[in-house]
Amino acid sequence: MKTLITNSVSKAASFIKRGDVCAFPTETVYGLGANAYDENAVKKIFKSKGRPADNPLIVHIANKNDIKLLAREITTIAKKIITKFFPGAVSVILKKNEVIPNVVTGGLDTIAIRMPSSKTARAFIKACGVPIAAPSANVSGSPSPTDFIHVLQDFRGKIPCVLMGEKAKHGLESTVIDCTSEIPVILRPGVVTIEQLRKIDKRIRLAARRGKVKSPGTKYKHYSPRANVKLQMPNVKLKNPQLAIRNPQLTAYIGLKNVKENFGLKKICRSESDYARSLFAFFRLCDSLGIKTIYCQSLPEKGIGLAIMNRLKKASR
Ligand code: TXA
Ligand code: MG
Repeated sequence: MKTLITNSVSKAASFIKRGDVCAFPTETVYGLGANAYDENAVKKIFKSKGRPADNPLIVHIANKNDIKLLAREITTIAKKIITKFFPGAVSVILKKNEVIPNVVTGGLDTIAIRMPSSKTARAFIKACGVPIAAPSANVSGSPSPTDFIHVLQDFRGKIPCVLMGEKAKHGLESTVIDCTSEIPVILRPGVVTIEQLRKIDKRIRLAARRGKVKSPGTKYKHYSPRANVKLQMPNVKLKNPQLAIRNPQLTAYIGLKNVKENFGLKKICRSESDYARSLFAFFRLCDSLGIKTIYCQSLPEKGIGLAIMNRLKKASR
């Protein structure tokens, strides 16, 4: 299959209109989209990604009015979150409308809805004229794409079109919040932080790590480069410094704090936002250079640090 790489929103939208998939940029990560009303088109997403059928997709809209096309009921707390954070890096889970095929939601009777702030993303969705079901545009299990080059690494020759756009501003996927009950639950932390959300309702809490999995995607291995990811506490010496010394070209480090050890590749981030934005691209760069072990500085689990640690823990297990 030939993969068209285009910066024409209307050309990209024509693939969606004919029932095909197309990758597109958003402010979080690139998505692999299809018409959310078209069961066969959505099935192509699962097939291209190798994604388990029980892992539901987020449906993307360009206009807040479209929420009522997708959701049966918009809870009071959902309204507040939507007013404050749409458009943006937040996905809200509500009870779904019948019109949405079950393949989209992995058989669940709820639906995750997001309105991206990226202008390119919204222009694309508008040009498609339908809500767009889209997971991150990576092969299942690999790091999410923050640049169209990453999408091509995974899907060149396997999907018909990539809408080229800006690099992802945030670099981590949206905060997923279950708003179906009175007290909302964060199923996946993101750059919109729990501290920001608690300003709307201080009862908002994080989903428990153990017990029943509410967000099916969170049970799968995720975000992983081929290299081994090792979490490193700040201010603690590397556990295995000999490795770094013996094989510096095969090891890498990313963090906020500089370390004196030698590495084949080192990325010192300017801020937590910079760490978030750079992480997945760094993983991919390490893989392309044949790096075997990536040391990542741990952060306190608050603010964006919570989302970064969530991804790092999944990548390192
Ligand atoms: O920023 C993002 O969210 C990106 C961009 C493309 O919008 N999308 C993204 O999609 O990260 P994906 O499929 O890689 O992750 C979606 C997560 C999964 O963990 C999935 O299980 C969860 O959201 N999810 C989707 N619908 C759900 C639902 N109805 N109930 C519970 N969890 C849901
Ligand atoms: Mg994903």
